[in-house]
Amino acid sequence: MVTIKDKQFSPFIDAETIQQRLEILGEEITKDFQEKTPILIGILNGSFMFISDLVKHISCPIEVSFIRISSYEGTESTGEVTSIMGLNTDLKDRHVIIVEDIVDTGLSMYRILEELKIMQPSSLSISTLLLKPDALKHPIECRYIGFEIPNKFVVGYGLDYDGLGRNLPEIYQLK
Ligand code: IMP
Repeated sequence: MVTIKDKQFSPFIDAETIQQRLEILGEEITKDFQEKTPILIGILNGSFMFISDLVKHISCPIEVSFIRISSYEGTESTGEVTSIMGLNTDLKDRHVIIVEDIVDTGLSMYRILEELKIMQPSSLSISTLLLKPDALKHPIECRYIGFEIPNKFVVGYGLDYDGLGRNLPEIYQLK
């Protein structure tokens, strides 16, 4: 068990299970995007650990970039995404894979998709480490999913609780 600030979290998905799953996702992406040189766009901050491990399992040529949005405070979604920052690559006619730590209500991803579609990419796919199907408020189609999980707050492996816990190599669930 780990304590972060005022909350206790119990072990949920161990490091080895995560790595095994990423190997499979990496192979699928390699197979689907051979000869297409996709650009993977990580959503900061939460996706930094996921994307850095995922790309090690992709063996076709890829590019990697990052964007940042803001939407969350504490353990509940505010549902508001203010803006998207940091995109300095032309996505027109590119194959884009958005890499996210977790799709919860789906509102952030909905906004990101809206913004990126304007840039007319050839294709737009989503890879998320975690998906909470019961929390989804928008019909978001995630093509590469690490794990579907119950609607409970999680930390670790890039995910934070009030800025803390991102460095944990495994995923913990709120007790
Ligand atoms: P959504 O807009 O509700 O789908 O929330 C997406 C963002 O909220 C994610 O990128 C995370 O940064 C954050 N988030 C959602 N659920 C959790 C959680 O269980 N733990 C930590 N962060 C979360």
